[in-house]
Amino acid sequence: MTHLTSLAGTPLASSSTDNRSFPPDFLFGVATAAYQIEGAAHEDGRTDSIWDAFARVPGAVVDGHNGDVACDHYHRYESDVAMMADLGLQTYRFSTSWSRIRPDGGPVNHTGLDFYSRLVDSLLENNIKPWLTLYHWDLPQALEEKGGWANRDTAYRFAEYATDVHAALGDRVDNWTTLNEPWCSSFLSYIGGEHAPGRQDVEAGLAAGHHLLLGHGLAVRELRQADPSLGLGITLNLTVPDPVDPTDAGDVDAARRIDGQFNRFFLDPIFRGEYPVDVLADLAGLGLEKYVLPGDLEIISTPIDALGVNYYHGEALSSHPVEREMSTAAPSERPKRSPFPAAEGIHWRLRDLPLTAMDWEVQPEGLTRLLVRIDEEYTGDTVKLYVTENGAAYDDEVEPDGAVHDAERTEFLRLHLGAILDAVDAGVDVHGYFYWSLMDNYEWAWGYHKRFGIVRVDYDTLERSYKDSAIEYQRVIAGRAL
Ligand code: NOJ
Repeated sequence: MTHLTSLAGTPLASSSTDNRSFPPDFLFGVATAAYQIEGAAHEDGRTDSIWDAFARVPGAVVDGHNGDVACDHYHRYESDVAMMADLGLQTYRFSTSWSRIRPDGGPVNHTGLDFYSRLVDSLLENNIKPWLTLYHWDLPQALEEKGGWANRDTAYRFAEYATDVHAALGDRVDNWTTLNEPWCSSFLSYIGGEHAPGRQDVEAGLAAGHHLLLGHGLAVRELRQADPSLGLGITLNLTVPDPVDPTDAGDVDAARRIDGQFNRFFLDPIFRGEYPVDVLADLAGLGLEKYVLPGDLEIISTPIDALGVNYYHGEALSSHPVEREMSTAAPSERPKRSPFPAAEGIHWRLRDLPLTAMDWEVQPEGLTRLLVRIDEEYTGDTVKLYVTENGAAYDDEVEPDGAVHDAERTEFLRLHLGAILDAVDAGVDVHGYFYWSLMDNYEWAWGYHKRFGIVRVDYDTLERSYKDSAIEYQRVIAGRAL
């Protein structure tokens, strides 16, 4: 097995003999999302989402890949659930497709909704807790044509759609996540243009960020009213921004700005009912204030039960040019503007850490620090903390024995589970972990070129097979220990 190397160049301890146990109520799961795995994009009444439309734009997605077939999970969900049961998974995080359930944002399509009903039944029959996300980036294209998330009305349409899904599945699903990574569906999508709908408009991106948060708050209120016993939450992609030189005021300020736009822009309205003062100052003159109406922040800060943290890597920031700049290569050929509205003059320094196939640094200790911080500053004893995504893409190879011996992903998984146990040792109640992803799937603008799965998908035959990482995860789950 290859060992990852630490900053100092010494191997990080392979934890195979650690034998550290997980807390008794800790849930082991995996995550996926509708557009990335379902396929059946034109079946049973589903109409286009912004990703179907974006994938048709020349140059937007590598090789023009789209989700028409994806992993064909729509037709193979039963065997996929059987595979999850075989792996010993206790919970499965998936998303529902708005375009399947309310095609074109219009009336409810019961045929589309029935798919999720069958999926939930199959999970429950296999003793797997369904963990449902209402929005994982696939807005109906018809709503985008009315302004998308930059249009306030979309927040109200989202709450309606949430109510419909709850009416159909609320008797069987306890855990509900409103949004997945609103930073991506606002800043990266409406400002950076790298994700659907591919817009490059700073004001639209800030409006989208606010309206996503508003939609979250409205949906939480609706669902809470429908059933006070539900576990309601949101999933945020959070980062650990470190100054390259902690004694350099410019570097410290660069880290503060990225923390503001990445983490606190979303955390503070949800947990404190306000946008952070320094972030508002950074964004002054860009138009956000126009969209924040009286009462919005009160809605956005409606209490929740769970926060999902998606963690992939942190970042080292400087206000000076750095000798090893982190690759900001986007897959698209589209002209690119920084998705960070006030990030001018910030440089991302590549550290001496191993990289995944996404060119993301492998930094497990960042996860420990992040969980400790979020627990101290935001969630405390009142809101349950989960790691709802964490995973790695590597250039997997099928070996002559037909298997994928993904030593790096296996080690990545172990190191991050170890980082969670470190947070638990530091007193943080972490309630669960969802590896991204159950299987290789449509990695957005990278198409099928990046593989994150613990299960390999052969895209010619759509056959699934366990990689070594799946077998290792199965072993960890069975023993509830590293
Ligand atoms: C976060 C997103 O939620 C998921 O859709 C994506 O595939 C992974 N990160 C990996 O990039």
